[in-house]
Amino acid sequence: MAVASQAQHLSKQCFSDVCYQLNIPQQTAKSGSGDIFFQISGPTSYSWIGLGQGSQMAGSNIFVVYTDGKDNVTLSPRRGTGHVEPEHDRSANVTLLEGSGISNGRMVANVLCTNCVKWQGGSTDFSGNSGDWIYASRPGDALDSTSVSEELEQHEANGSFTWDYVKAQGGSSGNPFIAAPQGSPSHTGMSSTPTVSSGTGNSGAESNTVEASSDSASSSDMTATAHGSLAAVTFLVLFPVGAALVRIPGIGVWIHAGFQIFSYCCFIAAAGMGIWLAMTENLLDHVHSIIGMVLLGVLFIQPLGGVLHHRAYEVKQSRTIVSYIHIWLGRLAILLGMINGGLGIQLRGDVKHGYIIAYSVVAGVMGVLFLAVIAFGEVQASRRPKTDVRGDVKQDKSPL
Ligand code: HEM
Ligand code: HEM
Ligand code: HEM
Repeated sequence: MAVASQAQHLSKQCFSDVCYQLNIPQQTAKSGSGDIFFQISGPTSYSWIGLGQGSQMAGSNIFVVYTDGKDNVTLSPRRGTGHVEPEHDRSANVTLLEGSGISNGRMVANVLCTNCVKWQGGSTDFSGNSGDWIYASRPGDALDSTSVSEELEQHEANGSFTWDYVKAQGGSSGNPFIAAPQGSPSHTGMSSTPTVSSGTGNSGAESNTVEASSDSASSSDMTATAHGSLAAVTFLVLFPVGAALVRIPGIGVWIHAGFQIFSYCCFIAAAGMGIWLAMTENLLDHVHSIIGMVLLGVLFIQPLGGVLHHRAYEVKQSRTIVSYIHIWLGRLAILLGMINGGLGIQLRGDVKHGYIIAYSVVAGVMGVLFLAVIAFGEVQASRRPKTDVRGDVKQDKSPL
């Protein structure tokens, strides 16, 4: 009898032939925090199988299972940082329990987690009705590694689901998977089953909400594409062209000023989207976001520097310290922005090959042209007689 009642407290989800089970012991269900048990199982034809707490990779508490090459499994807790390989998380408090291992062509990890209520990037309430989880798997050669930070290849299947906590709540704080052999998918009968069998007695919670995240994923996908495209156009085309304008004889300095301020407005729009993405995906501390925000701050002072330079130039007819700050800060910021676009593409991870090539080619060409503009600017400045007034300044009788 004890076995049967224990089994009722396992909530199970299967995606194809990979299954996950969860038990929230009575004590944890009451207080909302404490120990939980979960099981990850799937055929050994998978290179790895993963389960995570959260609604997307970024900020989630991930557990990856693979064969260890010694007839057992390795459980690797990881921290999701974005669409890149999750890194090993030392702070996770997880233990592989009895019943874990490889049998009948399936790897099984029975896991006790004592700090799954809160992790870097999120938290859950185990006394609630449900929680957000993600899963992923990669078919392929066995990893056969005991290293918890073994390099993983990207998944072929992934998704998110809402786990019904009500079905999982209850039971003592003992290993529920050896007490409920009928509920475990680590049996011969399960190994060839393509989807969950409702005959296991506790699989009623199966994947009815798997597609739930696709809407929000696509809106953030669209924002990421809009952000990337606008930021790329701004740094690969607008800012360099605006800088080159100041070198073209006959073009007034105010054309440069107006053009660059317009470019900066485009950057504000792109950065707004970038900051929103970084906040929702927990990526504010990523190097791409940090460089982007530094650029936003640095370029903010450029118009002021430009005006101060222009005023001083009219009086002194030569560059002053403010000129060098305006010129070199502007040049370096534009070059750094071009490089930062590459880091953004890397961060996004799933960018189409054609787009990466297009970005690299345009960045390469514009980068070289921009360096030529810089060189030309320096030659022009060195040849300028001290008393000579730049064409644009001469023409411009503004009170600045
Ligand atoms: C080498 C390791 C990994 C890489 C390079 C990687 C990369 C990516 C990329 C590029 C995407 C977006 C495209 C797509 O949907 O396929 C993505 C999405 C996703 N990945 Fe991963 N991933 C890795 C590991 C994992 C692991 C271990 C999990 C475990 C649960 C996971 C769960 C997900 C989920 C649920 C999504 C869709 C939701 C989201 O946008 O975050 N990934 N991953
Ligand atoms: C405030 C500054 C910025 C922030 C907070 C920011 C944030 C982000 C984030 C979070 C992503 C990943 C989106 C995802 O994985 O869904 C991203 C992607 C990207 N970012 Fe930024 N970014 C900033 C500035 C820039 C700048 C200066 C560039 C320069 C070109 C840039 C170009 C890109 C590109 C090309 C992508 C790839 C998007 C795609 O291809 O769809 N970002 N950015
Ligand atoms: C966000 C706004 C701005 C950015 C990013 C920017 C950027 C730049 C850059 C990169 C250069 C050097 C071009 C080269 O490589 O040779 C430059 C030069 C210059 N900028 Fe700006 N600028 C901005 C706004 C302004 C404004 C508002 C003025 C005001 C009048 C101004 C006046 C000048 C002048 C006069 C030069 C030529 C300096 C010289 O060669 O002696 N800029 N700017």
